[in-house]
Amino acid sequence: MPLSMTLTLNGAARDVVLDDPRVTLLDLLRERLDLTGTKKGCDRGQCGACTVLVNGRRVNSCLTLAATLDGAEVTTIEGLGTAAALHPVQAAFIEHDGFQCGYCTPGQIMSAAGLISEGLDAEDPERIREGMSGNICRCGAYHGITLAVQEAAR
Ligand code: FES
Repeated sequence: MPLSMTLTLNGAARDVVLDDPRVTLLDLLRERLDLTGTKKGCDRGQCGACTVLVNGRRVNSCLTLAATLDGAEVTTIEGLGTAAALHPVQAAFIEHDGFQCGYCTPGQIMSAAGLISEGLDAEDPERIREGMSGNICRCGAYHGITLAVQEAAR
């Protein structure tokens, strides 16, 4: 039986009908709502490419069942900033070359935004690396990523 639910998605109410209770938030976003900024890497909770914010907290959307999110507030990379008004984390990633191929970047940025909103100490690079450790960058752009998160947290 289809499940009707309502999300607040990037600040706007969104009615969703799920015909399969096994649909993940990642697949809902990418395949049904055309929000393809959130990336699918491993699809098993190991890479962080699919990171979004749910009620302000970082989650791996590949591990989150959409059916559990009725009434939740979901923020994806599409809702974080605009081309004309970048979020401070986005601006800092550009400033510090916090990416190379860019595939992991939406997840990195969402994770950084969540980490900063949790009260990250910008002067503790080890804490930044630990806090971002769930987001893998195969290009190895970790130095720039750490600098970007540090600047955005200041
Ligand atoms: Fe979700 Fe890798 S795609 S953690």
